[in-house]
Amino acid sequence: MPEEGLAEAFGVTEEARAKINLALHVTGQRPDGYHLLDMLVTFADCGDRLGFLPAQADTFTLSGPFGETLASDGSNLVLRARDLLREAVGALAFPVHIHLQKNLPIASGIGGGSADAAATLRGLMRLWGMSLPVGALASLALKLGADVPMCLESRPLIARGIGERIEAVPDLPAFAMVLVNPLQGVSTPEVFRRLAAKNNPALDLARGLSETGRWLTAIGSARNDLEPPARELVPEITVISQMLQAHGALFTRMSGSGATCFGIFTGMAAAQEAAAALHGERPDWYVQATETVSGGM
Ligand code: C5P
Repeated sequence: MPEEGLAEAFGVTEEARAKINLALHVTGQRPDGYHLLDMLVTFADCGDRLGFLPAQADTFTLSGPFGETLASDGSNLVLRARDLLREAVGALAFPVHIHLQKNLPIASGIGGGSADAAATLRGLMRLWGMSLPVGALASLALKLGADVPMCLESRPLIARGIGERIEAVPDLPAFAMVLVNPLQGVSTPEVFRRLAAKNNPALDLARGLSETGRWLTAIGSARNDLEPPARELVPEITVISQMLQAHGALFTRMSGSGATCFGIFTGMAAAQEAAAALHGERPDWYVQATETVSGGM
């Protein structure tokens, strides 16, 4: 369904923006096995879209380029978010029809499932005409996944812990980007299992940086510690980085546990040109030019 169609057919719509890890440092591991992370995160102006309507009974439909690859059972984060929120709010929660337009590839390191869960929480609170205290909403989000609290924010931030300690980064500029995914899903637990070192240096970013160039230098001095183990699983990640650079990227890195890589470009015209060329070379891959949100959005 086109964007306007979704807005017309559904009273409440939400965007589930792609999450981009500009940096991801693995700094330790909790006794329960979850890894402690330091992440610099921003959000793209592309993503999934969701629509919400009152209904006679709960229903869920899917569309979009990746709609057919997603299960509609209890493992679906949209349905888990709906059920968890309903449990929290009780009588207010009348039956709903939810539609998910799945534009982002599955298991791709750009938070599609987490962003969908966060958008479901936001959308249903609007539809049901209720709100939860910020802390209660954040802990409910964390039950759905480590990245869901940051997706509730969908603006530039630093996240620590397993993703629950969030601090806004209002001075982060917008970036012109190309996202590339070879359409090979990556298992996040498998990438963490292959991680050689779990106690790496923390993210240490100079703050108050005013220009894009300085931010790029700072991001360049950071890392994604999950990139080496993900490259073992998906060797195309190395090829993608090389291709993004060959098409003019100032900087490339993998997001999350992969396999999506992003390239940062001088502007949207350069990003769109590179995306068109990459799509021509690899029509079987997901290639998307996008602008990320700025901290002062
Ligand atoms: O929280 P989420 O469902 O996104 O995590 C998927 C899996 O990734 C977890 O079950 C865990 O094995 C691994 N993980 C981790 N440390 C994190 C986040 C995820 O080990 N901080």
